[in-house]
Amino acid sequence: MLEIQYHGHSCVQLTNEGHSLIIDPFISGNPQATTRVADIRVQHILLTHGHRDHILDAVELAKQNDATIVATWELANYLSWQGVKVMGINLGGSVSFPFGRVKMTQAFHSSGVVMDEQQQIVYMGMPGGFLVTMGGKTIYHAGDTGLFGDMKLIGEMNQVDVAFLPIGDMFTMGPEDALTAAEWVKAKFVVPIHYNTFPPIEQDGDAFVAQLADRKIEGKAMKPGEIIRL
Ligand code: NI
Ligand code: MN
Repeated sequence: MLEIQYHGHSCVQLTNEGHSLIIDPFISGNPQATTRVADIRVQHILLTHGHRDHILDAVELAKQNDATIVATWELANYLSWQGVKVMGINLGGSVSFPFGRVKMTQAFHSSGVVMDEQQQIVYMGMPGGFLVTMGGKTIYHAGDTGLFGDMKLIGEMNQVDVAFLPIGDMFTMGPEDALTAAEWVKAKFVVPIHYNTFPPIEQDGDAFVAQLADRKIEGKAMKPGEIIRL
């Protein structure tokens, strides 16, 4: 049975038969988080892009678990300089792991590290999303993205069991576009992410789920720390 834990913001942990991975760990800097980085046991850490609210706890988690970070080539190399194991991949590519398969999908966003002191921005490659196949289920994590038409292709080419879609607006899709995304990826179950972490991205997750229901799509606004099993 696949266990899915939401750690808040865009951070999702998938666990099946002793294998565990976490996507976009941002816990220690998230005022809404209820879980602790020190308690998390994973073998793989997947990063959609290089923004702080997606990678903050990646190096610490990698070190405490001797885990491998899987990210776009540039971001993976950048993090390897901090002494952690990495695997650099890129958009459209997939890799098999002991737990299943990971494919990196496109996302329309940006990806860089802003070095305030040096007044420099370091390019971190393209932003992405992930299709993870694990425990017989397919999970789509859209990353940070605006709505894009090829989400229809994701829906046509995969049987998505659960889709994690950003609804926060301002930096990503807002709820209206996320409803369209939910229809296009044809997910059986949709979980809104990337909202309510900070005031600029406040949204009503339950209202979004109610609008999903109007379109005959199941979903849930998971609370930080909450676990579902499929
Ligand atoms: Ni971002
Ligand atoms: Mn973000």
